[in-house]
Amino acid sequence: MDIGGIQALRAWRAEQTGTVALVPTMGALHSGHQALMARARESADVVVASIFVNPLQFGADEDFVRYPRPFAADLSACEDAGVDFVFAPALGEMYPSAPEVRVCSGRMGEVFEGASRPGHFDGVLTVVAKLFTLVAPHRAVFGLKDIQQFCLVQRMIADLNFDIDLIGLPVVRDADGLALSSRNQYLSPADRQTALAIPRALQAATAAAEEGRRPKAIETAAREVLEAAAGLEVDYLSLVDAATFQPCPPEFHGSALLLVSADVGGTRLIDNVPIALECG
Ligand code: PAF
Repeated sequence: MDIGGIQALRAWRAEQTGTVALVPTMGALHSGHQALMARARESADVVVASIFVNPLQFGADEDFVRYPRPFAADLSACEDAGVDFVFAPALGEMYPSAPEVRVCSGRMGEVFEGASRPGHFDGVLTVVAKLFTLVAPHRAVFGLKDIQQFCLVQRMIADLNFDIDLIGLPVVRDADGLALSSRNQYLSPADRQTALAIPRALQAATAAAEEGRRPKAIETAAREVLEAAAGLEVDYLSLVDAATFQPCPPEFHGSALLLVSADVGGTRLIDNVPIALECG
């Protein structure tokens, strides 16, 4: 496995004749990332994993400085997953100066995560566009836990004509149901128990949909579970049209997503579940 910054990546990339898959990460790798890398391995001849904690996507009061950076462990996780090149640029290499020109995530970037974290998605799309340009992959593999990010990357690929197949992998969960996230390590054991209300809420919503209930009732079923969890503060909970991220109207049928974000002990957690709504 090769490891390097921009110069080493460019030299390595120029030698590749087969297909290349990219798995963009900020490190602190867990089994969810391993699943992304395994999928990348299946989909291309060679795999690049990037490890870069992108300051552009963190707000001033967020956890950029304390974001976990277990680099040695991350490298062995990449090695185990059969990654061919770990792209780990230095901060000053990616941003020699604060970028004037950035990707604008538009209206879909202003709702839900984007409303709570202004500028977050512009920062994500800017770094992802840079990674796409530098790595020039044929495929890119992202997790569907960050579903709004995934949909925005999909839109950017279409709007900016990147010739890249985007692959989305379903949320990977721990045995207790909590979606894997690098930020789960901020949770105390008690916080973690509290956080389990999130997957329970998603299950309640799924069950309500299976019983034929309509959007408001589905949201209520999930909200009741979250509100019963002391120490958990809901930021947003919404059933949206999966194509537009607009809240589902009462008569909606088709593919929806239940989106949840909540704060548990100062840690922001997000999760989602796809929900199919039949004609009412
Ligand atoms: O999902 C992430 O880990 C990050 O948002 C990404 C895509 C690596 C961009 O920094």
